[in-house]
Amino acid sequence: MEMEKLVSLCRRRGFLFQSSEIYGGLNGFWDYGPLGVELKRNVREAWWRDMVSAHDDLATHAGAPSPYEMEGLDCTIIMHPQVWKCSGHHDLFVDKMVDCRESKKRYRYDQVRGRWVTAKDQKIFVTTVAEEEEEDLKRRAMKFFKLRNKDADKLAWDGEMTTLDKIDVADFDKAFAPEASALGTFTEPRDFNLMFPTTIGALAGEEGRAFLRPETAQGIFVNFKNVVDSTRVRVPFGVAQIGKSFRNEITPRNFTFRSREFEQMEIEFFCHPSQSPDWYKFWRDRRMKWWQDLGLAGERLILRDHEPDELSHYSTGTADIEYAFPFLPEGEYGELEGIAHRGDFDLRSHMEGKLDPNSCPLEVELGEDGKPKHKGSGRDLTYRDDLTNERFTPHVIEPSAGADRGTLAFLCEAYTEDTAPDDKGKEQTRTVMKFHPRIAPIKAAILPLVKKDGMPEVAQELYRALKKKFPVFYDAKGAVGRRYRRQDEAGTPYCLTIDGQTLDDKTITLRDRDSLEQVRIKLDDAVEEVERRVYG
Ligand code: GAP
Repeated sequence: MEMEKLVSLCRRRGFLFQSSEIYGGLNGFWDYGPLGVELKRNVREAWWRDMVSAHDDLATHAGAPSPYEMEGLDCTIIMHPQVWKCSGHHDLFVDKMVDCRESKKRYRYDQVRGRWVTAKDQKIFVTTVAEEEEEDLKRRAMKFFKLRNKDADKLAWDGEMTTLDKIDVADFDKAFAPEASALGTFTEPRDFNLMFPTTIGALAGEEGRAFLRPETAQGIFVNFKNVVDSTRVRVPFGVAQIGKSFRNEITPRNFTFRSREFEQMEIEFFCHPSQSPDWYKFWRDRRMKWWQDLGLAGERLILRDHEPDELSHYSTGTADIEYAFPFLPEGEYGELEGIAHRGDFDLRSHMEGKLDPNSCPLEVELGEDGKPKHKGSGRDLTYRDDLTNERFTPHVIEPSAGADRGTLAFLCEAYTEDTAPDDKGKEQTRTVMKFHPRIAPIKAAILPLVKKDGMPEVAQELYRALKKKFPVFYDAKGAVGRRYRRQDEAGTPYCLTIDGQTLDDKTITLRDRDSLEQVRIKLDDAVEEVERRVYG
């Protein structure tokens, strides 16, 4: 699938718009249009329902060591600045960046890709950030060496494509930056903190300085005690939150994949340390199955376990659920969700002061004065098991998913081009968004075949009955084949057509978006039938 086609459909049909488009847009920010808002709401609601509100506290899920409870939270975006000092974001939430002294462009160090090439006795590292990277590299190398198209074979390429962070900084004088005209314009890599600073009230300077949260997780950790004390919840239990997060990404790109404002769906699952490896496995598999059940069932979705040398020493496992987004080079995958075993790192950091993630066993990081570099809350965030009387700091398993990345993956997976017969029975190509019915923005379209003979009246009555249950669309305009096509592009799984026969025998046709099969069902059964097909 070509990404441009999806981007164009998203704009044309109202899934996604660039933020502030009439002012030229704002890089890294996206608005969801009328269809997109329903799609993303459905993704969030499916997650909340499956993970939280419909969770059975009494049953043991397949693969789970025991039953467990789930609670929800909705925390503020701006939190006490100390939260981010203890969580590590203040010191460690950085990306390395490089600037180009000539073009004044800023790049993420690990996202500039390039390749060594020699011509006219000179070897350079030519770089690109373009999507069509091979073509761009070739074009720029030819330009640099002043070669004509017919002399392309004079370029001697050396080694595979790699990223700028893999070459020695001492070789930067041979690097040809993406929008530069001369060599050696990259600066040395520097740290760039991704948190968005803001100011609270009228306080000037450090006193009023706060941050927009870069993840929803910390709101859950700092409320751990509140949840335990205000409910009768017992370990093991999970706390879920869906909400906006903000990261000042250096190079937001690939549609909504890397945005500066996005939504996360996170669970912090608190369990006894001895059981945490089993709970980690449970969550890893449960979360993978959730994405698959909602339609990412093919080979484009993978579960990638981190290698032992990628893990922090206090973690027994981390896995990423990744999707082969069409804008990525062949064989590469982008993260949809991470499932991490975090041990007791977070609760202890908020109790004792920021822990040094490299210390083993974990110890509070000390400043130059020998005192904790970032003071914790001093609150007791341990848990006492009232049955065994054991007191311990729970270990945490964190399944952390992106609602926008998830929505983007569903859009990419759904986009299909096939053929379907038009009004005259002639096969025509069609674009169809094959969303799982649960997440489809519109569940059914109600179409009177013609605008007369009492058909609109019957159709409107059916529309009102269905609309009480879920989003449906009434369309009486134009040829019915054209109306089907519009619904196919919107991803509406069912079209219900009211025709002449309806007035005789009170039946209607139900057309399935994917199989194109049309069956006659009783008008009186239509609401129940659509509900059954959508929600099972
Ligand atoms: N609390 C853990 C945490 O925040 P993360 O891997 O940084 O972990 C979790 O983020 C998820 O949030 C990612 O898997 C991704 O789906 C989403 N996400 C992170 N940064 C994003 C961005 N700039 N744009 C869109 N989604 C993003």
